[in-house]
Amino acid sequence: MKKRLVILLCVLLSFGAFAQKFDLAKTPPMGWNSWNKFGCKVNEKVVMKVADAMVSSGMQAAGYEYIVIDDCWQISRDKDGEIVVDKTRFPHGIKYLADYIHSKGLKFGIYTCAGTKTCAGRPGALGHEYQDARTYARWGVDYLKEDWCNTTTQDAKSSYTNMRDALFTAGRPIVLSLCEWGSNKPWEWAGPVGHLWRTTGDIRDSWDSMIHIVDLEKDLSKYAGPGHWNDPDMLEVGNGGMTIEEDKTHFSMWCMLAAPLMAGNDLENMSKETMGILTNANLIAVDQDSLGKQAICAREVAGYEIWIKPLVKEGKAVCLLNRSDEEKTVHIDFNYLLTENGDYWHKDKYELKDYYITDLWENIEAKMDKSGLSTVKIPPHSVKVYSFIKK
Ligand code: GAL
Repeated sequence: MKKRLVILLCVLLSFGAFAQKFDLAKTPPMGWNSWNKFGCKVNEKVVMKVADAMVSSGMQAAGYEYIVIDDCWQISRDKDGEIVVDKTRFPHGIKYLADYIHSKGLKFGIYTCAGTKTCAGRPGALGHEYQDARTYARWGVDYLKEDWCNTTTQDAKSSYTNMRDALFTAGRPIVLSLCEWGSNKPWEWAGPVGHLWRTTGDIRDSWDSMIHIVDLEKDLSKYAGPGHWNDPDMLEVGNGGMTIEEDKTHFSMWCMLAAPLMAGNDLENMSKETMGILTNANLIAVDQDSLGKQAICAREVAGYEIWIKPLVKEGKAVCLLNRSDEEKTVHIDFNYLLTENGDYWHKDKYELKDYYITDLWENIEAKMDKSGLSTVKIPPHSVKVYSFIKK
């Protein structure tokens, strides 16, 4: 009898953990993370200014909510094992910052590492998971990114599961972002563990790095869905290593991939173009679509690809990607785009007349002739993105 009760309690607890897990990231998380722009030079002032800019730039209104401090906020542990904040960078401590961020209607995220030390050599979480989780809950943390440096022989699944359970026990709903760079194929096991998992090594602020990451996502669509997302890493939009066209392509592909949208630029000093890309409502709606499907690559020929992302209510988004170094003239048959789903044709099921078809970057109805044909020029490293929404 006692045994049965214990089993029932365990089932209820894990169901509670699962229900909480599912609710926290029904659509891909959106926010900002300090690493890509500031690295270890992050500090209290930077984070507060970014929080201000997230509100004043319209990013909050566009859906961005998490402000995440990455590596280098921690310096040591005290005699009781409590994590000690780097006071030169964060003189008022972390709770102060969390309170400030919350006062703006935003949410607060922080970084740790599953190993003995973080990647920048700061104290890691190993052996302190429950203690740290309690501290995070006390500070008001809403999002935890957990890295994978200095883990030697640790098992990834059990290490991350341990942190998941520690967070659940701490009693505050906290999004768990796994960052083990895809090395242990987290997409195969992390669905019940975290809300998002990195699929690759670190992004760099260049076209080659960004497009290489896109290639690595090609077989992963089936693993993403509400509450559990593939994470191709944080955005480099606005950091200067790519042209505006390339930044638009980067953002478009992340939205097609139903990727978490974590801006990685200096929000306080961004250009109008960068802000326009990051807050594009049409593209964000594709990313945040409640069906939660990640796009598949339906065609690839000589530097030209067609990506298709199913949307709710029999809608879809289509991205025509010119990844070559030359302009491409593309003859589009919208009938084909509507009926092709990557794995099979719905030849007679859908008809163009039943859909609103929008060119998402131009924000206009897509142009085509009566038979649904059109010719467009796509510049090098650029995209055309369309949505098909049922009337
Ligand atoms: C890497 C991680 C980066 C960043 C960095 C901090 O392992 O992939 O996103 O968090 O560590 O040291």
